[in-house]
Amino acid sequence: MQSAIVPKPLPSWWQAALADKWQKGGFGLYVHWPYCVSKCPYCDFNSHVAQSVDQDIWREAYLSALTHYAAETGGRRLGSIYFGGGTPSLMRPDLVEAIIDAAQGYWVFDNDIEITLEANPGSVETGRFAGYRRAGVNRISLGVQALNDKDLNRLGRKHTAREALSSLEIAQAYFQRVSFDLIYARQNQSLRDWERELTFALSLTPSHLSLYQLSIEPETAFGARARAGKLGGLPLEKLASDMYDITYNICKNNGLERYEVSSHALPSQESKHNMIYWQAGDYIGIGPGAHGRLSLDGKRFATETPRDPTAWLKRAMNGPGESTRQPLSGTEQVTEYLLMGLRTRSGISLRRLKAMDDAVLDPDPLRHLEELGLVEQKGDALKVTPKGMPLLNAILRELVA
Ligand SMILES: C[S@@+](CC[C@H](N)C(=O)[O-])C[C@H]1O[C@@H](n2cnc3c(N)ncnc32)[C@H](O)[C@@H]1O
Ligand code: SF4
Repeated sequence: MQSAIVPKPLPSWWQAALADKWQKGGFGLYVHWPYCVSKCPYCDFNSHVAQSVDQDIWREAYLSALTHYAAETGGRRLGSIYFGGGTPSLMRPDLVEAIIDAAQGYWVFDNDIEITLEANPGSVETGRFAGYRRAGVNRISLGVQALNDKDLNRLGRKHTAREALSSLEIAQAYFQRVSFDLIYARQNQSLRDWERELTFALSLTPSHLSLYQLSIEPETAFGARARAGKLGGLPLEKLASDMYDITYNICKNNGLERYEVSSHALPSQESKHNMIYWQAGDYIGIGPGAHGRLSLDGKRFATETPRDPTAWLKRAMNGPGESTRQPLSGTEQVTEYLLMGLRTRSGISLRRLKAMDDAVLDPDPLRHLEELGLVEQKGDALKVTPKGMPLLNAILRELVA
């Protein structure tokens, strides 16, 4: 980072407000449940298939880990809890409730706290929706992925399109806020196929959609198939980019604005939890493979936990369950803020960036990107334009020296 595009010096009252920087980005709790019924061939999330899981032991470990974080951050205002996985809809509702209750004892819940649980379509899990609502969950994120059986089958999903629709209907009956995920740029999917599928998805009145391009991750079954030349029909770059463009337009025409690379929402229905990640807030991460960011005593720390469920259980019984806790340098914080914040429609605050490391952006690439209409500055905000979003990775390479 070099000098220029220097925001005016901050008044002292403002500097004080920025001292505890995480407050600008909020404070959340992430709970990772690592188990699934089966492993999907495209997935490289930390998910495992187990014969049986003793949820009482998990309850003990989660509650123990929370106690340790409460000692460091107790009394803060909590804006969000997110149960992610794996398949958290395999958790018993009383386990979910115990975690929410413990959190409520340790932190001050925001009046509009968002409590999300990721659910997989399927009758067993759907029967639990009533229990999750009683437990305090107020938002469901449903993994629909595709809306036809042939593609669901190819993605290795265990549910049919009909089951997904029925789960969605039940979720919408129990919860005001329901989001669902779809994966596009699938094998042999045409632009017209995706247009039809997305239009149908929008007719299901979601308040939020997460729409991901299929990515082939090296450590997955799809990765191995692709290396062996056995994963045909994947879109070329031009088709994938056209799909991204029509996704933006179709969602926008239906009132869902893209507020992050893959996230689309009706006004005020954005995921508060993900915004905490993207806006450099603080979050506690418990469960195997969970990450956290904590600002303590004027420093910002990155925490990680072991990915292996048994290893995490062991550690969490006597501590927060972390495998590492590293302080982040100012430069690291700035880089992370740029990488995360520029994914969002609201972009980043230049003043906040400066407060992180007294850093300012190199003016030459910034000016060049502005001239190309790929980024724009409005007051204190630096944003990637809709035109620039498909080129986000290249833009970040330019800006993050
Ligand atoms: C934590 S994962 C899975 C949540 C839940 N277990 C499920 O399968 O629905 C969150 C989302 O990431 C997306 N995802 C996972 N792997 C992906 C990949 N390789 N390419 C694109 N999207 C992916 C899926 O849409 C998935 O719903
Ligand atoms: S996509 Fe979801 S259900 Fe499939 S293995 Fe990954 S976390 Fe589990």
